[in-house]
Amino acid sequence: MASLEERAESNLKIPSCVLITGANSGCGFDCARQLALIDGVNKIYLACRSLEKSESAKQQLEELTNTSKFEVLAIDVSSLESVRAGVEQLENEPVIDGVVLNAGGAGGNVPSELMSAGVTVSMAANLLGHVLLIDELIIAGKIAGKAATVIYAGSESARGIPAMSLKPPNLETGSVEEFISICDGSFFTENEAKNPKYMGGHAKFVGALWISSMARKHPEIRFITVSPGATTGTNARRTLPWYKRAFVGALVNLQSLVGLAHSVDIGAKRYIDALLDHENYQSGIFYGSKKGLSGEMGDQAVFLDYFANGSFQDNANEALHNFIKTAD
Ligand SMILES: NC(=O)c1ccc[n+]([C@@H]2O[C@H](COP(=O)([O-])OP(=O)(O)OC[C@H]3O[C@@H](n4cnc5c(N)ncnc54)[C@H](OP(=O)(O)O)[C@@H]3O)[C@@H](O)[C@H]2O)c1
Repeated sequence: MASLEERAESNLKIPSCVLITGANSGCGFDCARQLALIDGVNKIYLACRSLEKSESAKQQLEELTNTSKFEVLAIDVSSLESVRAGVEQLENEPVIDGVVLNAGGAGGNVPSELMSAGVTVSMAANLLGHVLLIDELIIAGKIAGKAATVIYAGSESARGIPAMSLKPPNLETGSVEEFISICDGSFFTENEAKNPKYMGGHAKFVGALWISSMARKHPEIRFITVSPGATTGTNARRTLPWYKRAFVGALVNLQSLVGLAHSVDIGAKRYIDALLDHENYQSGIFYGSKKGLSGEMGDQAVFLDYFANGSFQDNANEALHNFIKTAD
């Protein structure tokens, strides 16, 4: 796929108002920085859980871009109440026409711990609040417009990474019940449930299926999953125990030296490419690295055909909505 610069301007549609979750660090922060430098992007909501961190990010972004396009919005995506309160705070104008569901991570030291909504920490941080956020934005008419696009931060871990001994998800039936068991953690063996990368990969897996289901249910909005790929210079590993953090950090730095990982601006640009390029990035598809964890982007259904299965997509979507209904 050609880089943005190589493509004709006419292929690109510029969103005017973009909301980014987890925008105070890493890929979310750099996505906000790069977007602010694009003519036509007029407003960027930094939707973060820590007001202190987001105010500091806003100040840094204003200095880095010499613009005042940023607004802070308090949202903790692992709390359904916080998501609802965040959407209520949004004004009706301008309507949002770009959303980057970037917040997430490995889910702490105990990724299988249950949150109040009945899903694991890993599922709450990466997915459930994002599902509610999109529902609420649609219901309130706060997302619309010709360029309306939702990008979900996926991960190659969702299709398995043999080089890291990370197995792909292995479904028995792909039923709603099976997806519920992934969300509440009962799907996993005791050992699997201790592995943040494996749990996180499954959250991203269910997320990519949800996005594809939403693409069919809401053809007026583009829904795309994009993995930033193996990205250095982010805080992604901060919740891992120190020895794993040190090991994974050293591994990614080594990968970076040999072209198997990339810097944060490249990871964030993957979101922006998909957000702007309506020709090369199709709604309902999960884009990630064609090979390994860096480099050219391609459809991840090549690695795991579950991603293209319409009934798996809808069952994952229904399972997620069951938790939201039960929590209400
Ligand atoms: N880096 C990689 O190699 C890589 C690879 C594949 C996918 N990804 C995905 O890319 C996304 C960005 O990760 P990153 O590498 O940029 O990591 P990062 O620097 O740790 O950024 C993650 C952001 O998400 C926020 N966040 C976490 N839980 C949240 C919650 N409950 N509510 C609101 N915000 C929350 C964090 O806020 P706090 O500062 O408050 O914690 C932070 O701003 C994640 O979804 C990650 O899974 C990353």
